[in-house]
Amino acid sequence: MNFEEELNYIKSRKLYRKRYVVENKRVFCSNDYLGMSKNEEVIDFVINQIRQANTIGSGASSLVSGYTEYHENLEYLLSELKSMEDCIVFPSGYSTNIGLFQALGDEKDAFYSDELNHASIIDGIRLSKASKYIYKHNDTNHLFELLKSSRHKHKRAYIVSDSVFSMEGDLARLEELINISKKFNAYIILDEAHATGTIGKGIYDFYGLLPEENTIIMGTLSKAIGSQGGFVCANKIIIDYIVNKARSYIFSTALGLPMVFASIKAIELIKNNVNFYKEELQEQTKQLLYIIKECNFYTKDDFITPIIPIKIGEEDKALELRNKLLEKDIFIQAIRYPTVPKDKAILRLTSSLSYSKEDLEMLYEAFKSLKI
Ligand SMILES: Cc1ncc(COP(=O)(O)O)c(C=O)c1O
Repeated sequence: MNFEEELNYIKSRKLYRKRYVVENKRVFCSNDYLGMSKNEEVIDFVINQIRQANTIGSGASSLVSGYTEYHENLEYLLSELKSMEDCIVFPSGYSTNIGLFQALGDEKDAFYSDELNHASIIDGIRLSKASKYIYKHNDTNHLFELLKSSRHKHKRAYIVSDSVFSMEGDLARLEELINISKKFNAYIILDEAHATGTIGKGIYDFYGLLPEENTIIMGTLSKAIGSQGGFVCANKIIIDYIVNKARSYIFSTALGLPMVFASIKAIELIKNNVNFYKEELQEQTKQLLYIIKECNFYTKDDFITPIIPIKIGEEDKALELRNKLLEKDIFIQAIRYPTVPKDKAILRLTSSLSYSKEDLEMLYEAFKSLKI
């Protein structure tokens, strides 16, 4: 098949993707959960800091000359936020996972990964030399059985899970994962992309626990923190190992300074308001769930996380609904295969502290006019 034929085939399956310049639409599907990307304090801080540092780009990879005192400070703040010993910041969340799994997974090792983990985890594991075992979503019995039958074949074992699942919006079963990790002498790697700043400082904070020595926390600066970049927090030895082994770190230019400064300010705001943000987001999620259910759409029941999957099913139905909402100046992207399983398309609605009361009213009116 040539490229054009292949594209036509994708179109015939309703899986064709197109980029939209979202202008004059109210966006209800971004990951800017706390509105940090437009926060005045953050913007002012970035402008002032950039003027003082008189630099935008970092100019080289971290191991050449791209690592600055500002990167170091950001890593310190992230370690503190996550109650971990050390941290490394990457240029994006995607490159963090690519580097993290490639670095940690040697031939004799194994990753035990939840089937709904993010694509960047899947790709990182593919790049590593380790074996992989996929357990059913949040099914800790299945995880236990997989470890029981295969742990003895491997040197290091890693249990891998999103903390907040990016499409379903549900939480990992942390306490059970911790117990299983201890029983089988395994590390736990948690992807906190959607947990940092939304459910507290992260999933450990949410459950009132502290990370232990076998914990490795990955996160992004691109969601609630509102800028761009990714990070790993762990003990000093593991971070040192990642610095030395992660190819997406070693061979990529260090994160640009506007993003470093924006992240530093956003983390300060999150630290000082962590419970307030969590409660405000939950309050709004309750209201959004009410709107969606009142309009006879099917979604999740709990309001713990700000991700609200509106379950549609067929891909073309999801596209049709997205387009109808666009006609009403509302943008909620239709998420289709391979991001979610085939015929399980969703509209991925998210809460954000950037929405006004009028925005929610507008959303309600738009959903009322839709037919499923
Ligand atoms: C769970 C999860 N991990 C990692 C990433 C990658 O992060 P970034 O978009 O910052 O590259 C994403 C992004 O959508 C994500 O949802």
